[in-house]
Amino acid sequence: MEDGTVFLVNISIGEPPVPQLMAMDTGSSLIWVHCTHCERCKIVFDPKKSSTYRKLSPDSPQCVNLAYNHQERDFQCLYEIRYQDLSTSRGLLALDKFTFLTSTGGTVEVPDVMFGCALNTHGSVRDLNGILGLEAPNKYYFAARVGNKFSYCIGNISDTQYMYNQLILGDEAILQGDSTPMQTKENHYVLTLEGISVGEKQLTINQDDFHYNVAIDSGTTQTLLVKSAYEPLVTEVKNLLNGMLQPIRLRNAGDQLCYLGNMERDLKGFPIVTLHLADGADINLDVEAMFQRTIDGSAFCMAVVESSENLLGIRAQQYYNVGFDLDAMRVSFQRIDCELLED
Ligand SMILES: *[C@@H]1O[C@H](CO)[C@@H](O)[C@H](O)[C@H]1NC(C)=O
Ligand SMILES: *[C@@H]1O[C@H](CO)[C@@H](O)[C@H](O)[C@H]1NC(C)=O
Repeated sequence: MEDGTVFLVNISIGEPPVPQLMAMDTGSSLIWVHCTHCERCKIVFDPKKSSTYRKLSPDSPQCVNLAYNHQERDFQCLYEIRYQDLSTSRGLLALDKFTFLTSTGGTVEVPDVMFGCALNTHGSVRDLNGILGLEAPNKYYFAARVGNKFSYCIGNISDTQYMYNQLILGDEAILQGDSTPMQTKENHYVLTLEGISVGEKQLTINQDDFHYNVAIDSGTTQTLLVKSAYEPLVTEVKNLLNGMLQPIRLRNAGDQLCYLGNMERDLKGFPIVTLHLADGADINLDVEAMFQRTIDGSAFCMAVVESSENLLGIRAQQYYNVGFDLDAMRVSFQRIDCELLED
């Protein structure tokens, strides 16, 4: 999207298949699309026009095992999801056929995919056609239905014209590079962070705070760290930059560390920050992953922020192919220009 923070996936739903543009989200598990009016998005799914659409009843296994709040009304299964930013989506749980493009230009159909038909949305998700949740708490969820494997490759998130971003679902998923164990927790995939280094320098973090406690989330932009890792990191960044650059406070940036100046020019030679995940998988944060420019380009801020939780957002995943294997419960990371991935 325009602000470069959300990746939209074009998947068709129904018979006849109607294309939907859903935000790819590894930080939630349900798929839903707007089914009635949608304030700021153009696409709305109309269940009345699909011959394969079916509402789920409250006693269906999908409804009984739903990982979100649900309730019965008029013999239908109502779901409600609340996202991290407190936006919400409410509606009916349903089944319909999903149609995908294959890498060779053909199509694949998956019948009876569970999804939410949103009747009521609040907050930031109102702007979206829908969300493609890729976490899978049980076999009824989409990521499990397509074979327990998927991978995505993200290029430059600031470049909306970049053509090689891709999501691969199923057996063709690219699981290459170093991998790290994952677990699922509260509809998130969580990883273990063992250390952080800035250039050659290892920072001291409290490992107890990071044991299967770092969510990997393609639906969030920033990287979030709890105090015990954020403080040593921000201290080291200040050590490197204060004295050379002028710190400033920006409105809307909260407590973020910001400096006046041109990001490319002034951060030339800034060391790579490495997140060391369990079993030796490393994520290298270069300047584009560690910092973000202000809109007018006259200043830049650190894009890793302090929070009550740990989360690896999409900015940190730039130039990585990230592979999820839900059978082995591992995530692999390979630094690559997505254009070079074999198809
Ligand atoms: C989505 O894919 C369909 C073909 O399956 C295509 O006709 C449509 O233009 C695509 N929409 C966007 C926004 O890319
Ligand atoms: C990423 O894209 C932005 C906007 O097009 C551009 O200014 C920046 O130089 C790009 N970064 C890289 C590393 O190519």
